[in-house]
Amino acid sequence: MRRKIVAGNWKMYKTPAEAVSLVTEILRVAPPRNDRDVVVCPPFTALSRVSQLLKGSPVKLGAQNVCWEKEGAYTGEISAPMLRELGCEYVIVGHSERRQYFREDDALIAKKLKAVLAEHMKPILCVGERLEEREGGRTNEVLASQTKGALGEFDATQVRGLVVAYEPVWAIGTGKTATSQMAVEAHQFIRQLLAEMFGAGLAGETRIQYGGSVKPENAAELLREPEIDGALVGGASLKADSFLRIVHAG
Ligand code: 13P
Repeated sequence: MRRKIVAGNWKMYKTPAEAVSLVTEILRVAPPRNDRDVVVCPPFTALSRVSQLLKGSPVKLGAQNVCWEKEGAYTGEISAPMLRELGCEYVIVGHSERRQYFREDDALIAKKLKAVLAEHMKPILCVGERLEEREGGRTNEVLASQTKGALGEFDATQVRGLVVAYEPVWAIGTGKTATSQMAVEAHQFIRQLLAEMFGAGLAGETRIQYGGSVKPENAAELLREPEIDGALVGGASLKADSFLRIVHAG
C-alpha cells in the first residue's frame, strides 16, 4: 500500500508572519492523521520560520522550486543544499506555472531533479496537459513526453522516493477539477510509463498525486481512489480549515 501524501503548494502567497499564523493554526486545530504524509510548501522567505514551527510535528516541509546548481554566481537562486539545511524534505519541480512563466523545459527540470535527489530530498515532479492538448486527444502524448523528458536519464535506484503530481493545467486555479475517472486514467498511464522506464517494482511504489482545484468538497471522491495517492493543493491550502478538511478527506 502506498501512503497517501497531501501537500499544500502556497505559491506566492503568505509573508513570513502570515505563514507563521497559518502553520500555527494547522498544528493547533487538528493533528494531521498519521496514515498520510502531510506537507506544506511555503515561499522561500518563510521556510526558515515554518521549519522551526514544524520541528517535532508530523507535518513535513517542502520548497516550491530549486536551482540546478549547488552554489555559484546565480543571482537570485536558491540551491538544494540550502533547502536541505532548512529542513525541506520535498521540493516541487516542474510546476506548470514555472514551465509557463519561467520557460522551464524538460532538460532544465531533469537537472533540478538531479540536484534535489543529490541532497536526498524527494522531488514532487509535476506533469500535466493544457486544455487544447486534452481537447486534441494528446493528453497521453504530453504526459509521456514530460515524464520521459524529466526522468529519462535516471535509473530506478536514483528515483526511489520520487512523487509525481498529475496536474492538468486547465484544472489549476480554475475551479474545474478533473473527474476522478480522468485522474485515475492519467495516473494509470503515468504508472505504466514508470513501469516501462524503471520496472514494475518502482512504478508500484511511486506515489502519484492529483492537483488542480482540489477542495474539501471534491477531495474525498479523489482520495478514495486507490490509484490516486494524494493531492497537491493550491488555493485551498491557504486556509487551515480547508487544508485540514482535505488532509482528512476520503
Ligand atoms: P489550485 O488547487 O489552486 O487549483 O492549484 C493547484 C496547483 O497548482 C498545486 O500545485
